[in-house]
Amino acid sequence: MLDAEVRELMQPFVLSDYQVQEVYSRFCLEVARGLKRSTHPQANVKCFPTYVQDLPTGDEMGKYLALDLGGTNFRVLLVSLKGHHDATVDSQIYAVPKDLMVGPGVDLFDHIAGCLAKFVEKHDMKTAYLPLGFTFSFPCVQLGLKEGILVRWTKGFDCAGVEGEDVGRMLHEAIQRRGDADIAVVAILNDTTGTLMSCAHRNADCRVGVIVGTGCNACYVEDVENVDLLRADFKKTKRSVIVNAEWGAFGEGGQLDFVRTEYDREVDEKSLNRSEQLFEKMTAGMYLGNLVRLVLLRALERKLIFKQSSRRPEFASVLQRNEEVFETRYISEIEDDSFPEFASTRKIVRNLFGLEKASVEDCQTLRYICECVAKRAATLVAIGVSGLVNRTSNRRVIVGMDGSVYRYHPKFDAYMRQTLQKLVKADKEWDIMLSEDGSGRGAALVAAVASKTK
Ligand code: GLC
Repeated sequence: MLDAEVRELMQPFVLSDYQVQEVYSRFCLEVARGLKRSTHPQANVKCFPTYVQDLPTGDEMGKYLALDLGGTNFRVLLVSLKGHHDATVDSQIYAVPKDLMVGPGVDLFDHIAGCLAKFVEKHDMKTAYLPLGFTFSFPCVQLGLKEGILVRWTKGFDCAGVEGEDVGRMLHEAIQRRGDADIAVVAILNDTTGTLMSCAHRNADCRVGVIVGTGCNACYVEDVENVDLLRADFKKTKRSVIVNAEWGAFGEGGQLDFVRTEYDREVDEKSLNRSEQLFEKMTAGMYLGNLVRLVLLRALERKLIFKQSSRRPEFASVLQRNEEVFETRYISEIEDDSFPEFASTRKIVRNLFGLEKASVEDCQTLRYICECVAKRAATLVAIGVSGLVNRTSNRRVIVGMDGSVYRYHPKFDAYMRQTLQKLVKADKEWDIMLSEDGSGRGAALVAAVASKTK
C-alpha cells in the first residue's frame, strides 16, 4: 500500500480534467497565434512552415545520404529507396563530444563533414554524386527546402556563431572546405518531419509526426491558406504544407504556470536555456530523469522513502552529485518491473546508492514517483497531439511517433491514448504508429520528393 503522504507529494503531477482541458485550450490558441502573421512574433508555439508539401507515394527510388543531428547521437545514413514502400538503411553512429556541443559552430560542422567523408569512403562512394537530406532537429525558420536559419539551440547544444545562420550553408561550406566528396545538401528537415514522412511512406493517412526523445516536438499537415508565413508562390500549386509546431517552447508566455511544479521551476533554473522550452522540460527525456531526481530528494528529506535506512543523507548526496545521476531510462525500467520481485528497481537502487535490498514498499514508492512524472508527460504530449489532430482536415488521422521515451517506456503509449480518447473530436478516427527511422528514411524521402518536384 502506498502512503497517503507519498500520494500527497505527487499530487502536483496529477493533472485534473479541468487542467487538461485548460492546457488543451491554451495550446490550441498558441498554435493559431503561431500560424498568423500578426501574432506570430509573440506566439511561443511558432508553427514554422517546412516547405515540405508532398507526402511520399511509396514509389520513391534512389540512393540518398542522410545526416541526423539533434538527439543523443549523431548519425550518418545511406538510404536506398526501392519503390513499393520499401527502403534499406545503412548507418553509422558517431559521438558528438561535449565540448563540440558548446564550442564554435564551425568546429561542429567540420566534425560532421569529417564523419561524412569517412562514411562515404567506407562505402566506396567517394566519386559518386550524392544528394543529402539533413535532419537538423532544432527550431529553424525555413526560407525554402534547403535553407534553415537556426532560431535557437535547444537540448544542451550551444555552439557559437550558428544562431541566425543558415545551417544548410554551414554544412555545405564545411563539405567544400574538405573538398573530398561530391555531396549536395538538397533538404533540411526537422526530426518530426522525418517521422511524419517515414510513417506516410507506409500509411497514407499519416498527418502528424511526434518526437518524445531527448527533446519533444511535433509537426502536422496544415492547409496552405492557414499558414501566413509560407511564401505566396508555394500556395499556388499545393493545398497543404507540413508545419513544424516547435511546441517545446509552449508555456514561455506563462500558459503552463498553473500546472508547473516547484520541481519544474528548479529544472528550468539550472538549465542552459532558462525560461525557454518549458513544455519540453515537462515532457522530454533530457529532463524527466532530473524531475524524478528532484522529487526523490524531497521524498528523502521528508522521510517518505528508505525510511528504515540511516544512510538517507548519503543517498541525498548521491542525488545531488549531478543532474544526470537518475537517468531517464530508469523510469522505463522501473515501470516495466514486476511486483513483488522488483528486480530492475532493486538493481538501480543498488547501483545508485549501494543499498543491497530495497524493501517492497520503497520500490513501490519509487515506482509511483516515476509513474506520476511519466504519466504527466504523456498526458501533456497527448494534449498537443489532440490539438493537432483536431486541426487537420482529414477524418482519418494516423499519428507517427518516435523518440526514446515513447519507444522504451512501457506505458507511454497507453497513457497517451487515455487522453487522446478524451480530447480528439468524436468524428475523427485516429491511431498511433511507431515510426521506422524517421531521421534517416524520412530525410531521404524529403530529398527524393524534392527531386521529383523539380
Ligand atoms: C527540440 C527541438 C525540436 C526537435 C525536438 C525533438 O524540441 O527544438 O526541433 O524536433 O527537440 O528532437
